[in-house]
Amino acid sequence: MGRARPPERVPAVSALVVTRAAEAAAAVNVQRMTAYGLLVSPSHNRVYAQAAAGLVKAELAVFSERALGGRVRDIEETEIGGVPYVTFSADDLTEQDIRLLSNLSSLYALFQMEGDLLRPVVLKPLDLFGSDLLTIQKYSGKTNEYFTKLLLNVTAMAADSPMDLVTGRPRVLDPMCGRGTTLNQAVMYGLDAAGMDIDGKDFDAYAAFIKTWLKNNRVKHRAEVANVRREKSVVGRRLHVTLGASKERYKGGETMEITVVHADSLEAGRFFRPASFDLIVTDAPYGVQHGSRPKGGRPSGKGKPQLSRSPVELLAAAVPEWARLLRPGGAIGISWNTFVGRREDIAEILASSGLQVQGSDAYRGFRHRVDQAISRDLITAQKPPA
Ligand SMILES: C[S@@+](CC[C@H](N)C(=O)[O-])C[C@H]1O[C@@H](n2cnc3c(N)ncnc32)[C@H](O)[C@@H]1O
Repeated sequence: MGRARPPERVPAVSALVVTRAAEAAAAVNVQRMTAYGLLVSPSHNRVYAQAAAGLVKAELAVFSERALGGRVRDIEETEIGGVPYVTFSADDLTEQDIRLLSNLSSLYALFQMEGDLLRPVVLKPLDLFGSDLLTIQKYSGKTNEYFTKLLLNVTAMAADSPMDLVTGRPRVLDPMCGRGTTLNQAVMYGLDAAGMDIDGKDFDAYAAFIKTWLKNNRVKHRAEVANVRREKSVVGRRLHVTLGASKERYKGGETMEITVVHADSLEAGRFFRPASFDLIVTDAPYGVQHGSRPKGGRPSGKGKPQLSRSPVELLAAAVPEWARLLRPGGAIGISWNTFVGRREDIAEILASSGLQVQGSDAYRGFRHRVDQAISRDLITAQKPPA
């Protein structure tokens, strides 16, 4: 807003064949369209870097369709000065539109393109903390942090009020949160986050990480781990953290909450209230690194349910439970390994729980290779508004 417009491009139409009115309309159109170049983040992970431009293109298409009234057009991958960019054109973007676009997962910098020149657009990302909150943890089975952000973003876009991502405070649940990639991204955005994981080691590792990170970064907080009891027996452990983005905000009660439960996600309803989340976001087990553990599976090893190769079985059991925790109008986003589950099967599971799958083309551009055994895709669905 308030930025000087690029010089008008001359419409490549013959004045002879266009009426004055059409000419005027075309001129207005040309004047209002601005070309943008988005510099894609140089990713540390070579495999993800290869997919990043394609993924940000798909993400931009979803942002445009769901939150920007389809005003972003001509989304293309291109090279400028030997560096990969995604270019697009858009009608005058408002400050709020730029605030939204500032959070695109693989966006490093954004420019208005004026001929050969690139004019930087001042970004206003939601980020409250340093990026090490997302990057410092390294472990096998970690969901790439750019992809985690993308999944949270496109799930937010699938809800009934997509702009809430930047204007509201959607409450986020990752019901299979591992060591907390989604939770950390939600906190980065200033949102309340909740998670569950069946793996006690992941729960302990996340509790240790977040407490240390908050302490090392002098973030004002309180953290406690306690047993959760139902009818006198312990049904799980819960980590509860209250933190403030600054000392002043913390003192003024402007806080964020992180709640993580060590328990089976199929029991989510025992720990969280119905309709208490705006967004449910999860990277399902790939059937490779982490096994899916369907309810009632035969115990194996140290009393854990037997591992199944397909996450589909697990999702079929868990999605009805998760759907109850979603508020009407809220959205769920799931990523999964397409080698072990078909999109149609997961769409069917979501639909059987009364959720409306986002089926537009914009939502079909996310499939990408992770490694030899994993080709990842994502699917989102909305709980119909009440
Ligand atoms: C792909 S990993 C998620 C990784 C996570 N995003 C991260 O980066 O740490 C899938 C997770 O699902 C968890 N999981 C599998 N079955 C579960 C169940 N029934 N209840 C809760 N968590 C489960 C696994 O323990 C694993 O941490």
